[in-house]
Amino acid sequence: MSSIVGFVQSLPKAELHLHIEGSLEPELMMALAKRNGVKLPFASVEEIRRAYEFQNLQEFLDIYYQGMSVLQREEDFYDLTMAYLRRVHADNCRHVEIFFDPQGHTERGISFATAIDGILRGLADGEKEFGITSHLIMSFLRHLSEDDAFQTLEQSKPWHDRILGVGLDSSEMGHPPSKFERVFAAARDMGLKSFAHGGEEGPPAYVQECLDLLQVDRLDHGNRSLEDEALTARLAEAQIALTVCPLSNLKLCVVDDLQNHPLKVMIDKGLKVTINSDDPSYFGGYLNDNYIATAEALDLSKEDLALCARNSITASFMDAGRQKLLLAEIDGLLA
Ligand code: HPA
Ligand code: ZN
Repeated sequence: MSSIVGFVQSLPKAELHLHIEGSLEPELMMALAKRNGVKLPFASVEEIRRAYEFQNLQEFLDIYYQGMSVLQREEDFYDLTMAYLRRVHADNCRHVEIFFDPQGHTERGISFATAIDGILRGLADGEKEFGITSHLIMSFLRHLSEDDAFQTLEQSKPWHDRILGVGLDSSEMGHPPSKFERVFAAARDMGLKSFAHGGEEGPPAYVQECLDLLQVDRLDHGNRSLEDEALTARLAEAQIALTVCPLSNLKLCVVDDLQNHPLKVMIDKGLKVTINSDDPSYFGGYLNDNYIATAEALDLSKEDLALCARNSITASFMDAGRQKLLLAEIDGLLA
């Protein structure tokens, strides 16, 4: 084992940018299709994997929404969540804050309750079995209307004590954060936190809106912020955490080569960078794969990697006592 691989493995980490539906591995997709009598346009696991070639975000999203069709019953969502937690437990991940896409399910006739109850039961059992603490974030699909988002927020009310906040994902271009300013304000009034994808494909102006209009507690991706010097300085000054997803950026052609990934530049500019997997089943790597591939491509030092792990702890909403313990563990590794 190279020293970087061993070091990444030894680091306690949190994952803060993960779409649970994007952790659906082809094997589980096939098994759930069979269990639920859902017809897939693929005959084998190999055929599914071969379909995972994307030129942009939309090409991925089309296949991602299709993959969700196998998730029908509460236990499907439970199995999906447990499979993800089992996998990142192997990566020494200690805490997760995961997204789910309620509208991806309610749109096809699966109730909000079916999806969230299965996921929450998985998170609870995952903590018992693997010691992974967690929070759940419900994301609005930005290609759908403001009205649809408001309806989803209304549906979510019985679960608000178990939901950390709202997020914003799906097709970024043409769907600026301003479209959801009022929904996010309503969510904030209900005590929910705010997260949003910004600057993955969209321009710096969209990131600006995430800050000014949505008042995000954390920014998902944020790559294109670097095109605007004043915006970059503002993100650094306010220490707004960025949940960067290197292998996702590579698969969705946000970067042409991992060696050209801006993560190191972000660190050097004082941005609060974290490393995450986004949709690991579709993008070819879980949490540690992202740390290791990025370290190798950008020649990151152990200090850089430890900084990203520290940031993942302090940018999370895990309780302060647990944060302190995990930070001390990281300090011990560097000493
Ligand atoms: N970007 C936007 N929406 C998404 C993504 C992503 O990477 N993954 C799942 N929904
Ligand atoms: Zn994402």
